[in-house]
Amino acid sequence: MTDGLSRTSYATGEVRRTSSLVGGLRLPADKSVAHRALLFNAMAHGEAEVTVARPGEDVRSMAGVLGTLGAVTSIETVGDDLTRVRLRGGGEGEAARLPGGGGETLDCGNAGTAMRLLIGALAGRPARATLIGDASLSARPMERVAAPLRSVGVHVVTADGHAPVTVEGSSALEATDHELTVASAQVVGALTLAALAADGTTTIHVPGPTRDHTERMLAWMGAPVRREGYVTTVQGKAGFGARTVDVPGDISAAAAWLVAGALHPDAHIVIEDVGLNPSRTGVIDVLRDMGADIRVASEGPTEWCPEPVGTVIVSGGRPLQAIDLSGERVADVIDELPLLAIAMAAAEGVSTVRDARELRVKESDRIALTVAGLRAIGAAAEEREDGWVVSRGEPREASVRTEGDHRIAMSFAIAGLTGVAGTVVVDDPACAAVSYPSFWTDMEHLAS
Ligand code: S3P
Repeated sequence: MTDGLSRTSYATGEVRRTSSLVGGLRLPADKSVAHRALLFNAMAHGEAEVTVARPGEDVRSMAGVLGTLGAVTSIETVGDDLTRVRLRGGGEGEAARLPGGGGETLDCGNAGTAMRLLIGALAGRPARATLIGDASLSARPMERVAAPLRSVGVHVVTADGHAPVTVEGSSALEATDHELTVASAQVVGALTLAALAADGTTTIHVPGPTRDHTERMLAWMGAPVRREGYVTTVQGKAGFGARTVDVPGDISAAAAWLVAGALHPDAHIVIEDVGLNPSRTGVIDVLRDMGADIRVASEGPTEWCPEPVGTVIVSGGRPLQAIDLSGERVADVIDELPLLAIAMAAAEGVSTVRDARELRVKESDRIALTVAGLRAIGAAAEEREDGWVVSRGEPREASVRTEGDHRIAMSFAIAGLTGVAGTVVVDDPACAAVSYPSFWTDMEHLAS
């Protein structure tokens, strides 16, 4: 153990600067891809297996819901590393459909992607189900999915725009042209799944870039779905076949170590089996533009997954420069912005983030909590309605409030580990498990 590590108590969320960060890692399965691999196989016809490494709580919530619906035939855990979920889909021939007789209460925990995709998946099932979530999820907007679904004939009731959400689906939905005002992959995904139950062609137009995991995976499974630019087109009614998926590692989890490795002068971290979908690699581009030394060896999709996968290597020791992020660049790094804020707080110059209003309706108000945390650790930070302005300050010890938000907890832990802050205590270290259960043990491994 290094001197730094011996003074650090990871289990209590207390993190001090480490003297080095060296080694290799096995990431948790990509949350976005895992949700879809599980859900789509539950709607398919036939049986298949989904392998997810070190699944986070959100992915477990999705598997739990699909178990309640009767789609999961077995779950096998291999050591503490891999979970294999076997599913039998409710789809038949020309109809994609979730199984289950109706009347279910489906607990999505903290998982916003699970809830929104499930609302769309339930739209084509002629039965009623109610989706619930924890306090954070119950504060997040659901009308962005519910309203367009009502327009095609789904009976959806929200609690003043929030969960609980009751969905009574129909096998006779209307095809339509949706014009969305929010660029959200979760909404596009939900409307795409519902469109599979509609007679005719549905188009979904979004006002900006979104990750395309839904379209990629459904097309790979044989569904008539395609994405061109900001438009998704679905030809209904349609079903598709089950397909075994090996979910790649989560680049949003890797981002913690890309930022840590870029910030620490004595760092060399090798991360294999990382999902490298071009709509998710913005964090690499932004860190490189700031001056970080990151190398990528990308391979194409395999027989087991429609996503590109590869190895990412980060080495420390280069000074970072400030950056301004806005528009499409922000959409590409929306989940990584709290981590990038830590890099900005160590960079030379003044960095800004704009057009990131969506951060206010994630697992927490991430603009407010990021700026509060930055100030607590001694950075010069100001809140804007749609982002922040930040520059270097005098690193100080700090207690950081997370409100149970996994990405806030991990971001400020990295600030403590790399010396961008003094000793940091995050108030809820366990919440990292929402997306990255082995975050603290991986930290211990790299810092030892
Ligand atoms: C996700 C899409 C993003 C992202 C979320 C996961 C997905 O949200 O922030 O963590 O898997 O579709 P949007 O719905 O705002 O695109």
